[in-house]
Amino acid sequence: MIKLSNVSKNYGNVKALDSLSLEIKEGEIFGLLGPNGAGKTTAVKILTTLTKPDSGSCFINEIDVVQNPHKIKKLSELSLKRIILKENLLCMKICLFMECFIILQRLRRK
Ligand SMILES: Nc1ncnc2c1ncn2[C@@H]1O[C@H](COP(=O)(O)OP(=O)(O)OP(=O)(O)O)[C@@H](O)[C@H]1O
Ligand SMILES: [Mg+2]
Repeated sequence: MIKLSNVSKNYGNVKALDSLSLEIKEGEIFGLLGPNGAGKTTAVKILTTLTKPDSGSCFINEIDVVQNPHKIKKLSELSLKRIILKENLLCMKICLFMECFIILQRLRRK
């Protein structure tokens, strides 16, 4: 179960999230839709501990995301729409980078 209550986040003067509240029950498939800049990525980043909210509460399976980021990291996997790699990386280095992810994934499953 995912529960956000009045979650807000500002980047300087930009209000990325303004009191977002939502509840997603176990087994539900939830689509977060909105125009560009609506705050979708910010909400997902907060849920996956990549950034912290300025205010509000955020729970996954009754675990407080802000207070227990290490527990949430074990629960969540995230694929953002763009993978950003340095343009001058050699093809071989990119392959090694990807291989590291595969090895890490295997280690996590053990
Ligand atoms: N790291 C950041 N620094 C400054 N402003 C940011 C940052 N990240 C997001 N913003 C701003 O916060 C607002 C919400 O951005 P966010 O990326 O969460 O929206 P989004 O709904 O995911 O947009 P899109 O549909 O384009 O992916 C936007 O105005 C964006 O410019
Ligand atoms: Mg986005």
